[in-house]
Amino acid sequence: MLGYIDIHSHILPGIDDGSADEKQTRSMLKDAYAQGIRTICATPHFRPSMFRVSLSKRQSAFELTQSIAAEMFPDMKIFLGNELYYAEDGFDYIKDGVCKTMAETRYVLVEFGTSIDYTLLKKRINRFVMEGYIPIIAHIERYDNVRTDIERVEELIEAGAYIQVNAEGICESSFPVRKFVKKLLKYELVHFMASDSHNDTNRSYNFDKAFSYIIKKYGESYLDKLMYYNPDKMLNNEYI
Ligand SMILES: [Fe+2]
Repeated sequence: MLGYIDIHSHILPGIDDGSADEKQTRSMLKDAYAQGIRTICATPHFRPSMFRVSLSKRQSAFELTQSIAAEMFPDMKIFLGNELYYAEDGFDYIKDGVCKTMAETRYVLVEFGTSIDYTLLKKRINRFVMEGYIPIIAHIERYDNVRTDIERVEELIEAGAYIQVNAEGICESSFPVRKFVKKLLKYELVHFMASDSHNDTNRSYNFDKAFSYIIKKYGESYLDKLMYYNPDKMLNNEYI
């Protein structure tokens, strides 16, 4: 089996509303490993109005997570990114290296307000492309004005966006969300599935049900694409 890659995780301790401390990070790493994850791109929230984190604090939480992972599971790799909550000045933060792209690539994991207007969302995706970045839209299933029409996801992809769904979106969300995510999978409009894990309790590593669903419905090669081949290309700064 391939060592899977989780591209969206709040596993760094004490940085945002994710892992509270080193103990929880250890427990999350254990869960991730048990579910077949061998690479994690840690993506703490970048939202200065809500989470104020100094660069040195984020860097030491990252290095601590790397060293814990190396001690617990020598074949587990940890990279650093951010989950940028879109704001107009976000690009300045990215250029200054304050907001991290995914593992030093041109890919940026970005989230928007869940009720964002669709035209505005598309405009913002265009802006990423114009600025020379590749936007990954975090948990696409959360946006009310995208869920209404699957063709909108196709348009966003045509505009240059990559699409991430949360594993819980497949089996554990409300019916309309599940239905939407399953439809996206059917029409191959998903590039990445990720945990978006925040802790080891109610928002933990939760891939089991989603993995079973995809393997049963589409076979293991589809899962390999979402959990290994696409994320691997992203980490290598290649187009998918
Ligand atoms: Fe997140």
